[in-house]
Amino acid sequence: MRLAILTGGGDCPGLNNVIRAVLFQAIKKYEDEVFGYLYGWKGPINNLIMPLALSDAEGIFNQGGTIIKSSRTNPYKTEGGPQKVIDNLKLNKIEALIAVGGEDTCGVAYKLFKDFKAPIICVPKTIDNDLNATDQTFGFDTALSIVCDAVDRLHTTAKSHDRVLVLEVMGRHAGWIATMGGIAGAADYILIPEEAFDINKVAEAIKLRKKEAGYAVIVIAEGAKFSDEEILKGQEKDAFGHVKLGGIGDRLAKALEEKTDFETRAMSLGHIQRGGSPTAFDRVLGTRYGLKAVDLVHQKKFGRMVSLQGNKIVDVDVKDAVGTLKTVDKELYNQTKVFFGDEIKTMTRV
Ligand code: F6P
Repeated sequence: MRLAILTGGGDCPGLNNVIRAVLFQAIKKYEDEVFGYLYGWKGPINNLIMPLALSDAEGIFNQGGTIIKSSRTNPYKTEGGPQKVIDNLKLNKIEALIAVGGEDTCGVAYKLFKDFKAPIICVPKTIDNDLNATDQTFGFDTALSIVCDAVDRLHTTAKSHDRVLVLEVMGRHAGWIATMGGIAGAADYILIPEEAFDINKVAEAIKLRKKEAGYAVIVIAEGAKFSDEEILKGQEKDAFGHVKLGGIGDRLAKALEEKTDFETRAMSLGHIQRGGSPTAFDRVLGTRYGLKAVDLVHQKKFGRMVSLQGNKIVDVDVKDAVGTLKTVDKELYNQTKVFFGDEIKTMTRV
């Protein structure tokens, strides 16, 4: 069989583990020929294709990024894009395509499957962990460990200077990185896109924390809304209609300083969260996803996505993974409020 793989959307550690597993499973178990489409969906639109061999998998197990590149190209926003994808799959006699990506990449895969019966299997990826129908996407665990390390470091310096430090992390519409990173790093306040925040409440909580400990560390997701407003880097949108977020940490720090008079500084972790070597968890998850994806190809279970459920790798309808995002569980987020000043008292009183 001739099969191809592409990686789309924002990169993340673990992509190369999927590619490595696909190569081993396809070549050694099924004697397939494997090809890589370069730069996500841009590859099959523009016929950017390269043969992949087992030697390409050499030494990539601990490398972040993706050896077949990525982009945020949307065939459905490109003139004749979907048809070009289908034509190029035919031209190269590709019998199955493994699309590794998040909501956008898998959303395109679902449309191509629905509109053209395209033989596609999806693999769920994103540091944001906001894809439905799977317990976890790979890349998230690595991002989390980077955030946890950063929050740990902020504690010691904040404490030495009696400062309030604000860390802005990724997470456009879902605050998984902020919530889990904040819990792991013992943040004194966690702010996420799912719950609009009241600056006065945050200021009161920080005042209490300062009284008790002398310093405070706050983790805020880039998509958290300041008085219902998203803080943007610019007006430009990508091919999937996403705006560039950034700056909410600075905005919060400024407002907090005004309200509390405490010296408050902000920093943003940005793409550091997407780079570097994958954690052991992401290496294993990416590998298991890749192995399963090739099995699904040979079972001709197209339109399916590999998924982690409990401890098992299963397959689900890709339709169930796209369309809506998996946002932070309200109950989990509410539980973290016990760490935010006297917020919990306010909650239980009502
Ligand atoms: O891939 C998800 C993500 O990391 C988001 O958390 C973030 O907002 C976005 O990508 C940044 O994308 P880009 O690298 O295209 O600016």
